[in-house]
Amino acid sequence: MTEPRRYFVRTFGCQMNEHDSERIAGLLEADGLEAAGSAEDADVVVLNTCCIRENADNKLYGTLGHLKSLKDRRPGLQIMVGGCLAQKDRDAIVERAGHVDVVFGTHNVHRAVELLHEASETGRSVVEILEETVAEDHETFPSALPVRREVPWAGWVTIQIGCDNSCAFCIVPAVRGKEISRPLADVVREVEAAAADGVTEVTLLGQNVNSYGRDLALAARQAGEDVRVQPMFAELLRAVGAVAGIRRVRYTSPHPKDLRAETIAAMAETPEVCEHLHLPLQSGSDRVLAEMHRGYTAERYLERLAAARAAIPDLAVTTDIIVGFPGETDDDFERTLEVAAEAAYDSAYTFIYSPRPGTEAAERTEDFVAPEVVAERFERLRIVVERSGLAKHEARVGRVEEVLVEGPSRKAPAVLTGRTRQNKLVHFAAVQPIKAGSYATVRVTSAAPHHLRGELVEVTVPAAHRTRLPLLVG
Ligand code: SAH
Ligand code: SF4
Ligand code: F3S
Repeated sequence: MTEPRRYFVRTFGCQMNEHDSERIAGLLEADGLEAAGSAEDADVVVLNTCCIRENADNKLYGTLGHLKSLKDRRPGLQIMVGGCLAQKDRDAIVERAGHVDVVFGTHNVHRAVELLHEASETGRSVVEILEETVAEDHETFPSALPVRREVPWAGWVTIQIGCDNSCAFCIVPAVRGKEISRPLADVVREVEAAAADGVTEVTLLGQNVNSYGRDLALAARQAGEDVRVQPMFAELLRAVGAVAGIRRVRYTSPHPKDLRAETIAAMAETPEVCEHLHLPLQSGSDRVLAEMHRGYTAERYLERLAAARAAIPDLAVTTDIIVGFPGETDDDFERTLEVAAEAAYDSAYTFIYSPRPGTEAAERTEDFVAPEVVAERFERLRIVVERSGLAKHEARVGRVEEVLVEGPSRKAPAVLTGRTRQNKLVHFAAVQPIKAGSYATVRVTSAAPHHLRGELVEVTVPAAHRTRLPLLVG
C-alpha cells in the first residue's frame, strides 16, 4: 500500500482566512490526503494569504523563499497560494515565485483540489482567480464545504462574505468582493450539524455582520414578497442561540454605524450570546472618521457603546484602532486617546496605518505621517489601552467565572487555559484531569494586562464532542 500524501496549510490574516483554511483542509482530506505536522513533512503546502497591511505581503514572500529551497530538495512538493494576497497580486506571485504550482483566490476556495490535480496533470503552474463569487453556486460559500475544524468543540460559521463599505484605508472590499449573506436557514442548519458533533461554541463570521441579511431581504422584496428591507442579524443571533447544545455564541465584526438597538436587545435577551462586543473605533477624531468614510462620529460611537453596556451587564468591549492615517494631526490623535480612555476597553488591536495600493487613502502620499511621529503615538495609545485593560482585569479578581477549557498552556503543561464568556484567557493549575472542550468554573486570583490567573472550582459540563482527545493531567 502506498503512503497517503500529506498536506500542510499555513494561514495568514483574520478568522475568515482561518476558516477558509479549515475548508481547504477539509477538501484535501476528502481527496484522501492526511494532515502533516509541518511544511517539511508535507507533499502539498498551502499558503492562505492576507494583504491587510504591508508586512503581511512581506511575510508571504519570505515563506515562499523558504519553500523554494524545500522544493529544490524535494521536487515532488506542490505549493499552493490562496487567499487575499493571491487575489490581489496573482501575477506578482507567479513572477516572483515560479515554483508555485497553484494560485487561487478568495472566490474559488471550493476549486482547490481540482486546481491541484490540474497542476499535477499538466506539470505547469495553474492560476485561477475569479473576479467575484458566483452567488447561485452554493458551493462558493465556504461554510458549505467539508471542514476540518481546528478544535472539535468550537466552530466558525460564515454568515456573510465580502464587504459593501468603502473605508478609505481598507483593501478588503477589493479582495473579498461584494457583501453576500448566507440564508438564515442554512446558517442554522450548519450550527445544528456542528452541535450534533459536540460543538458548543460558535463564532459567526462576516466583515460587517450588522448588515447581515439586508441583501437577502432586498432580493425577497424584488421577488414580490412583502418584507421590510432591513438587516436580520438580531434574528440570526436569536436563532443560533436557540440551537440545542450551543452554549456560547460569539460574532465578529460588527460595524459601529450599523449597530442597531435590535442587535443589542438580542444580545441581552439571548443567554447563549457571550458578553463581548468587538466594536472597531479606528479613530477618535470626527475629521479622520469622515475621511475614512466610517459613517459615525466619536459621540455616536460612544452613545452606542453606552447603550450596549446599559443593556448587557458585564459586557467586555474590544476594538481596532489605526494610528497615523494620512493627515492625522496631533489634535486628531489626542481625540483618539480621549475616546479610547472614555471607552475603557478591555483590550484593543492597535495598528500603524499601512498604505494599500488601490485604496483611496494610499493616494494621499503627501499627507503620510512621519514614521517617528506614528511610533510615538502608537506607544502612547498602547499605554492608555493597557491601563484600562488591566483595570478591567483587576476588577475580576475574586470572582468565579465559567471557562471553556482549551487545554494545557503552551509554556507550562501543568497549567490549563480557558476562556471566559468575556473572551478572557485564564490560566489555572491542572489539579485534576480535564478534557479540553469541558466547561469549568474558576475563581480568579490575579490579573495581568492580557490574561487572568485563577484556581479551579469545579468542572460544570464535561466535553461532549466526538473526537477522543488525550486527558490533560497536571
Ligand atoms: N471588517 C472589519 C475589519 C477587518 S480588517 C471592520 O470593519 O471592523 C481588521 C482591522 O485591520 C481593521 O479594523 C483596521 O483597524 C485594520 N486595518 C485595515 N486596513 C488597514 C491598513 N491599511 N492599515 C492599518 N490597519 C488596517
Ligand atoms: Fe474594511 Fe471597512 Fe469593510 Fe471593515 S467595514 S472590511 S474596515 S471596508
Ligand atoms: Fe487579511 Fe483578507 Fe482577512 S486581507 S484580514 S485575510 S479578509
